This record gives sequence, structure tokens and C-alpha cells, in this order.
Amino acid sequence: MKNIFVFVGSRKGKKSNTYIIISRILDCLKSETQEQINIDIATPVSDEIKLCMGCGNCFMVGGCSLDQNDMMSVLKRKITNADMLIISSGVYLHNISSDCKNFLDRIGIWTHTFELAGKTAITITTSTSNGNDIANGYLCKILQCMGANVVANIGIKLLGKNPVEYPDDQLISRYADIVKENLDADNHLNISSQQEQLFQNMKEIMKNNTTSYDAYIWREKGYFECTNFVDLIERKRNEDNSR
Ligand SMILES: Cc1cc2nc3c(=O)[nH]c(=O)nc-3n(C[C@H](O)[C@H](O)[C@H](O)COP(=O)(O)O)c2cc1C
Repeated sequence: MKNIFVFVGSRKGKKSNTYIIISRILDCLKSETQEQINIDIATPVSDEIKLCMGCGNCFMVGGCSLDQNDMMSVLKRKITNADMLIISSGVYLHNISSDCKNFLDRIGIWTHTFELAGKTAITITTSTSNGNDIANGYLCKILQCMGANVVANIGIKLLGKNPVEYPDDQLISRYADIVKENLDADNHLNISSQQEQLFQNMKEIMKNNTTSYDAYIWREKGYFECTNFVDLIERKRNEDNSR
């Protein structure tokens, strides 16, 4: 059984273009594979996600007081248990939606603690004319900063304006194949040089940091003993498997 966690960062919920397209991709995936797949789709409508208050407690002392009052702790568990993440957003003024940004802010601490180290991820953005490259590039960058193994970036430009035209079945099937191939390609790592550099930079920053929660996690998990980012991924996988 494989678990896929999907976040669709649109306030339109099931009526959003991104949601409609991803649902078709996932239906196609399910029809083309024998494997049991459990799919969790979260949106800002189905799962309440309160606005990040910018207190910085997640970095400084660990935890987020908002987690007790909304769905974020449930979503975090689903994310960490998933075999694959699909993080998606419509393009809003050449960037991701504000809801998608808020979702990332709420797990922002993971850019310091690499909670997604080695986790397979795909980014998807939809637009009506342009901006996919910037929005998708941003999503990819932040997931990589959290340690994710981002294996594909899918930017979908919808044709027509009123009504919009969605991709045809052939294209949907191609996207489903991308998901399927990467779901099957267990643990095939795609580490960018920027990710390695980020790990080294973060290591230096954390070494000089004795007080905050993110540095505590580094010490607790033994990340200072890792010489490179692949080491950290191995260590994290061993830790996850022994849980
Ligand atoms: C406020 C706003 C800003 C938008 N900005 C862009 C844009 O910069 N580039 C673009 O191609 N489409 C833009 N769009 C169109 C959306 O990207 C497109 O409808 C997308 O599929 C919306 O995704 P959703 O329905 O999943 O939220 C914008 C739409 C809105 C409402």
C-alpha cells in the first residue's frame, strides 16, 4: 500500500481548477495500477488551516499553538507518513496562492530541520496564461529546502478563458504516468547541488546556535555527524524505520 498526500492550495476547494485536474490525474493513476494506493487530498476548505501569526515559536521553542485549534497537526502526520507528496496551487499574480504560502509557513520550521529529507515530492501549478515557472519554481525550492526529493514539476497552462479548457485525457494520462513512475521508483534520490549547499550552510548556522529549537533538533537527531545531505537522508530513514 502506498500513501500519497496531496495539498491543493485553493480556496475554491473541489471546484478549483487545480483540484479538478489533480482528481483526474489520480483517478487515471488508480485505474492504471494494480497497487493499493491511499490518497489524502487536503485543501484550505476541507481542512481548516489558521493563518501563521509569525510568532517564530516553531523555530525558537518548538511547536505551534495554532496546531491545537486547527487541522495542521493531523496534516503534518499525514505528510510525514506519506510515500509521496503532491503539493499544488493555482498561479496567483505569478506566484502560489496565499493559502498555499500559509500552508508552507505553518511547516516553515522544516526548512531548518529537513523533516522531508528524501521524501518524494511532485509540484503542480495551474495558470491561464503565464507565471507557472515562477510559482512552480518557488514551490519546488521550498520543498527542497525542507529536504524533499522533488522528482517532477508540472506546470499546466489552461487553454481558453471562459470557460477554461482542461487538459485532454492523453495529457492527464501522461501526468498520471509521471506520478506512477516516481511512486514505483522507490528511494531514487534526485539531490540538487543547491540542496547539498543548503545542508552545509545550515550546518554552519546551527553550530553557532545553542539556544533555539531547530538547533536542538540537529543535536538530538545527530545531524552534525552527517558529512553530506545523503548521510542525513540515510540517518532520517533509519530513524523513521525504527519508530
Ligand atoms: C487573483 C488572481 C490572480 C491570478 N493570477 C494569474 C497569473 O498571474 N497568471 C496566470 O496565468 N493566471 C492567473 N490567474 C488565473 C489562475 O492561475 C487560474 O485560474 C488557476 O487555474 C487557478 O487555480 P485554482 O482554481 O486551483 O485556484 C489568476 C487568478 C486570480 C483569481
